[in-house]
Amino acid sequence: MGEKNGRALERIVVTGGCGFIGSNFVRHVVREHPGVRVTVIDKLTYAANPASIADLPPERVRLVVGDVCDASLLDRVLPGHDAVIHFAAESHNDNSIADPGAFVRNNVDGTFRLLEACRAHDVFLHHVSTDEVYGDLALDDPARFSEGSPYRPSSPYSATKASSDLLVRAWARTFGVRATISCCSNNYGPYQNVEKFVPRQITNVLVGARPRLYGSGRNVRDWIHVEDHCRAVWEIATRGRVGETYLVAARSERSNLEVLRLILERMGRDADDFDVVRDRPGHDRRYAVDPSKLERELGWRPLHTNLAEGIDQTIAWYRAHPSWWLPTKRATEARYAARGQ
Ligand code: NAD
Ligand code: TYD
Repeated sequence: MGEKNGRALERIVVTGGCGFIGSNFVRHVVREHPGVRVTVIDKLTYAANPASIADLPPERVRLVVGDVCDASLLDRVLPGHDAVIHFAAESHNDNSIADPGAFVRNNVDGTFRLLEACRAHDVFLHHVSTDEVYGDLALDDPARFSEGSPYRPSSPYSATKASSDLLVRAWARTFGVRATISCCSNNYGPYQNVEKFVPRQITNVLVGARPRLYGSGRNVRDWIHVEDHCRAVWEIATRGRVGETYLVAARSERSNLEVLRLILERMGRDADDFDVVRDRPGHDRRYAVDPSKLERELGWRPLHTNLAEGIDQTIAWYRAHPSWWLPTKRATEARYAARGQ
């Protein structure tokens, strides 16, 4: 059930619930919030894996295979729900350079359709966004972005996420749609597609290939365990102030080279046993957002504060679940190879 003094969420729609963070969120809700029933809407793109939620009780979780751009589907599914938690998106920067059109359709038009449906059926919306909407910082700049920092996205992916955030803000102000937004830093943990940095390197080692580092490896990301992000999303969706944006991060900045060396060491390999490959065009240098508002207003704190332990758990999960990731590994690496990465 929803928290005391907050929004009571008993029936929720989770878009993108067969993807990485969406499936972790559905699992989190089933585990931590008995009584809440979840309808997942997912169009099952290459990034989805329905196995990520297939073991959950059918009386708690229902999967509707469909597209959030499909207005008639939303009109059928949304009535009777208290909230939509919106994770569905094209999410990988490298793919947004190869095929930006899919990002405009799914991320911008998808959010627009969802906003229209939430408006028509008076359903609360929590929109899941990214720290990348603020653009990057120079490596020698000690600053962190805050909620009021200007949006300066630099990749097609982050530009479509920024656009979708602006639609949410406009629909909240103009039409009174009840909505909150969260912008989170880089997630790691179980059920992440092997195209992403952390699981790509872990599974490369597991299949006997060498990890791949883009460029100098000096780019900095702020890593958060996916379970900490999921708890933050629940807190904001149930207790966050309507119309507000909250930044989510665990204050755990590392260069890509540091993270890659950590993975190699924890897997018993030489820390220099990797290949440097072609850099990403326009590669953002450093992401950093300040989570103070979330900590102050909602009392949220990350529970996974030791990155090495979190990486160990993640390595153990990929070791134990080859049937989850192995079927997509070869095709993913073939796509990277075609791009020289
Ligand atoms: P993902 O790529 O693993 O999963 C996305 C899911 O959305 C997939 O299951 C896919 O099938 C589904 N989907 C895509 N388009 C759809 C559509 N039009 N209709 C229905 N379903 C659709 O992504 P993720 O890493 O889990 O990210 C989830 C959300 O969190 C995204 O909005 C992303 O921008 C945001 N985010 C991600 C991170 C990160 O580190 N991964 C960090 C901050 C924010
Ligand atoms: P990624 O997981 O794609 O997330 P994001 O682009 O949202 O930060 O990449 C994380 C960082 O790792 C990014 O700086 C790019 C880099 N990277 C590599 O060095 N090698 C890889 O194989 C991948 C996929 C990413």
